[in-house]
Amino acid sequence: MDGAWSQNALVTSLVVSNGSQRRILRYAVFMAGVGRTVCVAPMMGLTTATARRVLALIAPRATLFTEMQRPIIDEPDVIRHVPTRGGSVCQISGHDPEHLERHARIASALGHDEINLNAGCPGRTMTSAGNGVALMRDAAHVEGLLRAMQRGAGSVPVTLKTRLGLGFEAKSDLLYGLAAACRATGVNKIYLHMRNAILDPSWSSLDNRTRPVIDVERARRATIDFPELTWILNGEIRSEADADRLSFADGVMIGRAAIEEPFLLARLTGESDDTQTRIRVARFALTVPPCEALSKMRAGFFARTPHDSKWRDSLTSQGGAQAFLDRLAPARVRRR
Ligand SMILES: Cc1cc2nc3c(=O)[nH]c(=O)nc-3n(C[C@H](O)[C@H](O)[C@H](O)COP(=O)(O)O)c2cc1C
Repeated sequence: MDGAWSQNALVTSLVVSNGSQRRILRYAVFMAGVGRTVCVAPMMGLTTATARRVLALIAPRATLFTEMQRPIIDEPDVIRHVPTRGGSVCQISGHDPEHLERHARIASALGHDEINLNAGCPGRTMTSAGNGVALMRDAAHVEGLLRAMQRGAGSVPVTLKTRLGLGFEAKSDLLYGLAAACRATGVNKIYLHMRNAILDPSWSSLDNRTRPVIDVERARRATIDFPELTWILNGEIRSEADADRLSFADGVMIGRAAIEEPFLLARLTGESDDTQTRIRVARFALTVPPCEALSKMRAGFFARTPHDSKWRDSLTSQGGAQAFLDRLAPARVRRR
């Protein structure tokens, strides 16, 4: 998989004010093979197969995660494989080696390029059953789970997604336990949400995605202490500048911003985000079966452009979006 994000130092030194020149530079950097991974985070209810089809059109070099396959339950639709150049990662969760081996086998047979263990979800249903971020407490068990997944996955690589730690203290010992488990099993990639999880019953999943501070310094320290691992960093990356300040890592993972402003992915991977491209993607999105994730994503198709508010308004009336696109396209053609 070779999704890419600009080699920050190089691009920054070359950047000029003109947006199209910058895109060309980013593309050149990608083509030179010095780019880094850009991926879309697993998000239940958002990274549906339909949403991933649209994201694959916007940023073919981005690596796309499925929603999470929950423990025990088989949800083939949730982990449907959507082919894309940047690669498709199937995320599975659980704490039972047999189930994880089985789900890894299924994911591998579906054609995914990587299979990822969720050791980062702070939801109460998950953690009270010993799944998700609760796995951070037992690195030896995680080592066994990773081995079980590797048996099921065959030649497909297994990876881990986790958090910096548990609780209010800025300690990385639990993360380092998992990193050592990865090293011992030959799992060489960690996706790191750069904040702790607080497993207090009064904290919701939303609290856990917003309240604990993002700690870039601790993430940086982990990349230094485990240089043999590939580190993809995640959490509140909403702009090129946010991604650029993580240029010490091997890549970035974009969560909510990938849905709220999908063309951020285009810019991060050196693809076009001009109006014609947005129109083309928007037209395609009108032809696929609607779902909640797609509705949310569509609202952001013209984010950061002068068309943003009119586009959003057009989505509230029947046929409005199509009419908006029809009006916009000829106008652009005339200007050429
Ligand atoms: C609606 C929603 C669902 C999520 N579902 C999952 C999931 O299934 N597995 C997982 O590892 N993380 C899940 N996450 C967390 C994201 O993968 C990501 O780590 C988090 O949103 C932080 O990244 P961001 O600040 O770029 O959004 C979810 C996040 C959201 C907003």
